[in-house]
Amino acid sequence: MTWDRFKQYRYDDPSLGLALDISRIPFPDDYLPSMEGSIQKAFDAMAALERGAIANPSERRMVGHYWLRAASLAPTPEISSEITGTLRSIKDFAARVHSGALAGPKGPFTRLLVVGIGGSALGPQFVGHALGHPGRDRMQVHFFDNTDPDGMDYVLAQIGGDLVRTLVVVISKSGGTIETRNGQLEAAAAFRAAGLDFTKHFVAVTGAGSKLDVLAEREGWLTRFPMWDWVGGRTSELCAVGLLPAALQGIDIDAMLEGAAAADVATRSRTTRDNPAALLALMWYFATGGRGAKDMVVLPYKDRLLLFSRYLQQLVMESLGKELDLDGKVVNQGISVYGNKGSTDQHAYVQQLREGVKNFFVTFIDVLKDRSGKPYEVEPGITSGDYLHGFYLGTRDALSEKDRASITLTLSEVSPRSIGIVIALYERVVGLYASLVHINAYDQPGVEAGKKAAGGVIALQSKLLAALKASPGKAFTVEALASQVAGDPELAFKILEHLAANGAVRREVRTPWHASTYGL
Ligand code: PA5
Repeated sequence: MTWDRFKQYRYDDPSLGLALDISRIPFPDDYLPSMEGSIQKAFDAMAALERGAIANPSERRMVGHYWLRAASLAPTPEISSEITGTLRSIKDFAARVHSGALAGPKGPFTRLLVVGIGGSALGPQFVGHALGHPGRDRMQVHFFDNTDPDGMDYVLAQIGGDLVRTLVVVISKSGGTIETRNGQLEAAAAFRAAGLDFTKHFVAVTGAGSKLDVLAEREGWLTRFPMWDWVGGRTSELCAVGLLPAALQGIDIDAMLEGAAAADVATRSRTTRDNPAALLALMWYFATGGRGAKDMVVLPYKDRLLLFSRYLQQLVMESLGKELDLDGKVVNQGISVYGNKGSTDQHAYVQQLREGVKNFFVTFIDVLKDRSGKPYEVEPGITSGDYLHGFYLGTRDALSEKDRASITLTLSEVSPRSIGIVIALYERVVGLYASLVHINAYDQPGVEAGKKAAGGVIALQSKLLAALKASPGKAFTVEALASQVAGDPELAFKILEHLAANGAVRREVRTPWHASTYGL
């Protein structure tokens, strides 16, 4: 029975080195035919998007990440030449850095610090980890992907005395993201403290005319690369956002682009059974009831794909997690994604997957090629890789036995080409699924809401400090201070506790805790 179903539903494309097994999602045989009308409509919407339609209606933008690996498909010659020209500049820049033609004050750049967040960091982090090699990378890559000062200190300590040989790439499409701005300012301060002119180390990737673009030009940074409004953050890995760090690290970016272009050709097929992206979108739809009723657990059995789960989490949840549909109706859509790697996770949460609450489906990622070095037998005829593969198959069966649904994506190897394929595949799955559930996958109003709320907190902090400064030596309870600045007392309390912990205000602890006082 299982073998028959496996044979019936297995998708295999040897030219892509990709196979897909959907047989362990328990859809009935009439499911795919019943969805044919809906998926054909999704193909129509995708074709219009690729032709340059305004596919992101709330932001009035085209959605052009597919053109990045097939510039000839861009809707205008100007866009095509921007894509090819930028790719050339990225390669020229990386070649100049590698050859030492562009160097720091004490010789060639050997380290790369990428400053960015969300779509401006997760792709480069995933690719850098999947394809990097400590002994062979042209540059050692580090990231500031948060505004946590301790996190930044940690990275700076790793770089240590090599700051003089460090190139910094600051990435922000909008050029106004606070975490990235803070990372850039902290990095610049570290260079200054080391007696270095940071402008001779800094590069920007950003939208033309953004705050970051203007600053980089005014301060005379090494160079700037464009980020176009028709590329969204979480689909930007194959423009300068991802390609520049990858090229600097020494990764074959042509192979990544070629893989993505080949996957795009396969996933443009209008024959559902021949289109792995359509099959995946339909499986997501079946498994979650088209309402996000089940979570997606991503389990790559490959250490190098560890960050794929995190990358996919953003791609899926920021794209599909939407309050309103395209008609403005409240739908609260989305699919929750989490995961890490196998077999490690078998010793963490797989126990619950097998025996606990049945609120998920699994996507296994199985990589056939174990390692590039020589195999080592841990037992006669058996390698560690055989065990890894055995654990994947064992877990898949153990879940099936308990009626837990799973998909398996099999890759022949982890390589620049296969990573390009996987990125393109999932970009298309998300787009097709969004059409099936009638939402805009390409905006992120919720992210903007969080940014605005944080701005309000910082404004309240400034008011609290100003009030304390106006009364030196005087101490106030939270309630007294909050009412003086017309602020929310709960927020004021949290801010004052944080300031006190960092020595910025003086706190007298009283009982009950809300009678404690704060002063300067
Ligand atoms: O995918 C997205 O749009 C977001 O995650 C952004 O990438 C993130 O908010 C960072 O934005 P920016 O690149 O403008 O700094």
